[in-house]
Amino acid sequence: MTARTPFLDLPPLSGVGGRVQLPGSKSISNRVLLLAALSDGTTEVRNLLESEDTRVMLDALRQLGCAVDAAEDGALRITGLGAHAPRVTQPLFLGNAGTAMRPLTAALALLGGAFELRGVARMHERPIKDLVDALRQLGCRIDYLGADGYPPLRIAHADGPPALRLDAPVQVRGDVSSQFLTALLMALPLAAATREVVIEVVGELISKPYVQITLELLARFGVHVERDGWQRFRIPAGSRYRSPGELLVEADASSASYFIAAGALTEPIAGQNGLQISGIHLDAIQGDIRFVDAARAMGARVEDTADGLLVTRGAWPLKAITLDCNHIPDAAMTLAAMALYADGPTLLTNIASWRVKETDRIAAMARELRKLGATAEEGADFLRITPPATPADWRAARIHTYDDHRIAMCLALAAFNPARLPVRIEDPGCVAKTFPTYFETLFGVVRAEPADIPVVCIDGPSASGKGTLAAQVAERLGYRLLDSGALYRLTALAAMQAGVAPVAENEARLAALAGALPARFVAGRVLLAGEDVTDRIRGEDVGMDASRVSQLPAVRQALVALQHDFARVPGLVADGRDMGTVIFPGAALKIYLTASAQCRAERRHKQLISQGISATIALLRADLEARDARDMQRSVAPLKPAQDALLLDNSGMTVDETVDQVLAWWQARRPFPSAQAV
Ligand code: DC
Repeated sequence: MTARTPFLDLPPLSGVGGRVQLPGSKSISNRVLLLAALSDGTTEVRNLLESEDTRVMLDALRQLGCAVDAAEDGALRITGLGAHAPRVTQPLFLGNAGTAMRPLTAALALLGGAFELRGVARMHERPIKDLVDALRQLGCRIDYLGADGYPPLRIAHADGPPALRLDAPVQVRGDVSSQFLTALLMALPLAAATREVVIEVVGELISKPYVQITLELLARFGVHVERDGWQRFRIPAGSRYRSPGELLVEADASSASYFIAAGALTEPIAGQNGLQISGIHLDAIQGDIRFVDAARAMGARVEDTADGLLVTRGAWPLKAITLDCNHIPDAAMTLAAMALYADGPTLLTNIASWRVKETDRIAAMARELRKLGATAEEGADFLRITPPATPADWRAARIHTYDDHRIAMCLALAAFNPARLPVRIEDPGCVAKTFPTYFETLFGVVRAEPADIPVVCIDGPSASGKGTLAAQVAERLGYRLLDSGALYRLTALAAMQAGVAPVAENEARLAALAGALPARFVAGRVLLAGEDVTDRIRGEDVGMDASRVSQLPAVRQALVALQHDFARVPGLVADGRDMGTVIFPGAALKIYLTASAQCRAERRHKQLISQGISATIALLRADLEARDARDMQRSVAPLKPAQDALLLDNSGMTVDETVDQVLAWWQARRPFPSAQAV
């Protein structure tokens, strides 16, 4: 799936099983990076989230003089500043990462030095006044370089660490963002070597689970803060950051919620004992781990194992619940999706914060759940979901995602519907905010009935542009790609390498080679026995031999299973000669692509010339016509349009026009109502 995938049509899903490794928690990742930077020694961090926010933090730490190296096993080694004063001449650019701007401001203000901290325009609209006030009250010199109360900022202690006023408790407001308190909690141990430091929260502290994460991580780095309720925090005298040596970032608990739900919605795939979610345990320090309690209340069976959480279906249908979701606002959206499968109405309360997130999540979820056939009632701070009464009440829906990653991720779970309807997720790329590989990860552990997996076949003669068309359609649909011609080319190449001539007498040996091709398809490259042969199999000699081996029935038969194996969730675009007629006769859409022989010869000529290969159009045309004749006249799987194929002559069309035509046909075949009708 790429940014060019405008929607993703999920087939109905019928099982889950296997193991998923989820990206590290965002909240933990950036805290760990800063703490490692402030410690003595080197910290090896595993399962760090790779995201924009962690990238800017790492860039800033490097700029400040920390060594950051990638270890061979994927871990990141961060060598802390220790006794070295941070040094930097350029401004630090922190993007839109609040989790970098706030704690770095506090830490650098206490360490001393001259720094400028900036971000993107949106960052310059995000408040930081409460933190700056607290730091100024301590004696730090911080100036606003733009509007008062907002970044960009200058820290002005060119002459070394400031003398701090620590006699009175440091006061900070807790009712705007808990990140200000977190920033002070992470920075003030730097000032607690010889005396205790007390922080007092003014006003009610919001987002306590995030402060809890901070305290847990401080303890991992050797600083044990004592707290009195959520108002007073005491950092004992003699506190000092010490690297724990190694640290594994817990998998993100909010991301885990989708997989916990998936595990609760279906029987495990045969041979699997459930869905294993690695890297997260019930004692996770993230607040969203409490989602497990709610999922269990609905019927999920969740066990804590050495490798992580093992989820299986328990009660079925799920049990409807009424739950105050204040403590798990993000993961509670997943409960709303699970409610589609419950035995009655589920009521989620105390979710007013949903209204001010990426979108108005209460309104958005209500609207999208209704499209699926559920009844949804919304209030200022609640959502009540009554599932579709019977399978016949489910609807094939196009889910609008409002640029909200969580709506895309949780409503993909509607693909487990009992009516076996597909679900369209619009703008699936929006998941990149926290989980860029969400769909790929999901597809790795779900299964669908083979008959439900959509296949688009694109057949046609040589040089009709099938390959280009198929690749582009696959990218736009977010589907897998099968270039079946490559399998015949690989067979031909394997035969050349084995010294087996592509002739009928060798049919059995050639079929044996085809049936055991050591081929792999990785990121657009074709590997044969580990060797990259992507360009080699395009050679004219290989193409000629491929045409010969493809005449042999036993070779064709030997490649059938391999081709069927490409049809996996979410779907497949297959190009070749017999995709629609022989390999995928039940395909959802079949295209027979042609262009006049003259036109195809001209295209191939252009292609060869651009590669510096000389050729004449007349000879190329004769060659193509000979190949067409051979492909059309062979006894098995001759090249011809499937009865139900749509014919597309692209002689006068551009590639984009051809792609658009195929997508228009695809849209017309899908069962989703048009946008106006919803
Ligand atoms: O599409 P292509 O040029 O890469 O195909 C190579 C040869 O394989 C071509 O001569 C036709 C044959 N072929 C086939 O017989 N059946 C297919 N499904 C795909 C290709």
